[in-house]
Amino acid sequence: MRTHYCGDLRASEIGKTVTINGWVDRRRDHGGVIFLDLRDRSGIIQIVSDPQRTPDSYEIANSLRNEYVVEIVGRVTLRPSESLNPRIPTGEVEIYADSIKLLNAVRKQLPFQVSSADVDPVREELRLKYRYLDLRRERMAKNLQLRHQVIKSIRRFLEDEQGFIEVETPILTRSTPEGARDYILPSRVNPGEWFALPQSPQLFKQLLMVSGCDRYYQIARCFRDEDLRADRQPEFTQLDMEMSFMSVEEILELNEKLVCHIFKTVKGIDIPRPFPRLTYAEAMDRYGSDKPDTRYGLELVDVSDVVKDCGFKVFHEAVKHGGIVKILPIPEANDRISNVRIKPGGDLFKEASEAGAKGLAYIRVREGGEIDTIGAIKDNLTPEQKQEILTRTGAKPGHLLLFAAADSTTVNKTLDRLRQVIAREFNLIPADKIHLLWITDFPMFEWNADEKRLEALHHPFTAPHPDDLDDLKTARAQAYDLVFNGFEVGGGSRRIYQREIQEQVFAAIGLSETEAHNKFGFLLEAFEYGTPPHGGIAYGIDRLVMLLAQEESIRDVIAFPKTQQARCLLTDAPSSVDIKQLKELHVASTYHPKERE
Ligand code: AMO
Repeated sequence: MRTHYCGDLRASEIGKTVTINGWVDRRRDHGGVIFLDLRDRSGIIQIVSDPQRTPDSYEIANSLRNEYVVEIVGRVTLRPSESLNPRIPTGEVEIYADSIKLLNAVRKQLPFQVSSADVDPVREELRLKYRYLDLRRERMAKNLQLRHQVIKSIRRFLEDEQGFIEVETPILTRSTPEGARDYILPSRVNPGEWFALPQSPQLFKQLLMVSGCDRYYQIARCFRDEDLRADRQPEFTQLDMEMSFMSVEEILELNEKLVCHIFKTVKGIDIPRPFPRLTYAEAMDRYGSDKPDTRYGLELVDVSDVVKDCGFKVFHEAVKHGGIVKILPIPEANDRISNVRIKPGGDLFKEASEAGAKGLAYIRVREGGEIDTIGAIKDNLTPEQKQEILTRTGAKPGHLLLFAAADSTTVNKTLDRLRQVIAREFNLIPADKIHLLWITDFPMFEWNADEKRLEALHHPFTAPHPDDLDDLKTARAQAYDLVFNGFEVGGGSRRIYQREIQEQVFAAIGLSETEAHNKFGFLLEAFEYGTPPHGGIAYGIDRLVMLLAQEESIRDVIAFPKTQQARCLLTDAPSSVDIKQLKELHVASTYHPKERE
């Protein structure tokens, strides 16, 4: 019977005989004496097997290889002073192995070294294919522990301190319009009909409020068939919450307390409250993004009014057509950013054009306020316009001003992207800082140019601001996002709870009455049976844990994630299925790979 975990042994156990289980992390032969590092999920302990002192274990210790699974019985001893290891918590002690029992050997060559003493980087595909080995590694085991701690801390706070109850909502459901593509499943017993996997439990949690549940939460799995990035997975986990009879202020206060509780219990960090807030309009204006990383400056400056009548066509045309002209001012840039990088073919030009910009105008500021730029700009700015640009941007000699001139979406997207690239390149991001802020007052709708209709910026169940009910199309929403170091970690809103307003919002996004009734009749009906005012939020648990773990991808905090191609390399899913299964489901595939070749 195991008496201790490897990582828990300390000097207080010296003299005791213990039984431990684990994996051989490393084996070293020091002139006849064998040292083993034995690992379990708690850490590592050094085992010694000496042909003189522990002859019974020596032979077997000699035959062990990395990742063999063993049981060891031995006496905890103080390490000799020259071999104390302050880098590990067990570094004061070692175990003299009286007996070693081999529980299981490794029969194949390991695809990669598991020991964290081995620093060679391992390809991610290999890590994902042998994920069970990857998860044995210290970094990944720590990430899973951290994830568990975060979820545990959430449950303790919401259940024990705030009276929330966890309710599970269906996985086989109707599609809810969260904006991404649905994963759908055919129904065998209802030929021709399909379930959708939930993009979020949004409608069910609202119905739980109608049912009087009052305070709901769920650690909820969500599914979205969208293009994957480092912070997106097709299946991911939300902390999903909904509350009745609470104002936006009360919801935000409770959520700040929750987030502070998580940081305190998991990281020991005190986050000051209240969290800073930016309205959507302010965030877009100053950072070009609704999830700005505010750990560094590089704020954007709008000069549309200054250049709207200037002689430089690109600028005045942009404003004339309803667009804007903004600047990203970069201090001390003249020696670091050459013109080659800004002009077509250059890396910064490429970044800008990937964000939709057609070009990247610039001004370099020299000593004495002289400017250095292309002739077309220099010749077409009046001294007053030039001076106003320098004043507004706070430009000093050495500043580089990068301009974007187009519709506001393109301008903001371009400069947001360049801002991030420059911040990384100039090392402006203080990695140990934590910036949490709320973005509020989102617009209800944004224009979908492809479909030529308004669409809900969050989702169509978000309540409009009570002051803006006269013109829904331009109304602000009672919505809020939580941004953590430039990542959107959470988002929510107060909801519509009156049938008429919900119908008006459906109409605004172009849903006909029939469509609204077919898709959401159950919700509209529920609103007529005494629905309380309510609101909520959902956090991306994977993103939150990724940031807390200082990882760069959510794949590193999910036990069994999908690749960028939405595949599971471990089980090789998705896979083809038997034609018989498809027939039972009344489904025929239209995919014929041969025809495509
Ligand atoms: P939203 O769509 O903003 O809101 O999602 C909430 C949070 O979930 C995380 N998230 C993701 N994480 C990983 N991979 C993804 N593909 C992914 N998509 C979203 C983000 C995001 O902030 N029902 C509403 C919430 C509400 O209104 O209460 C919703 O789902 O961190």
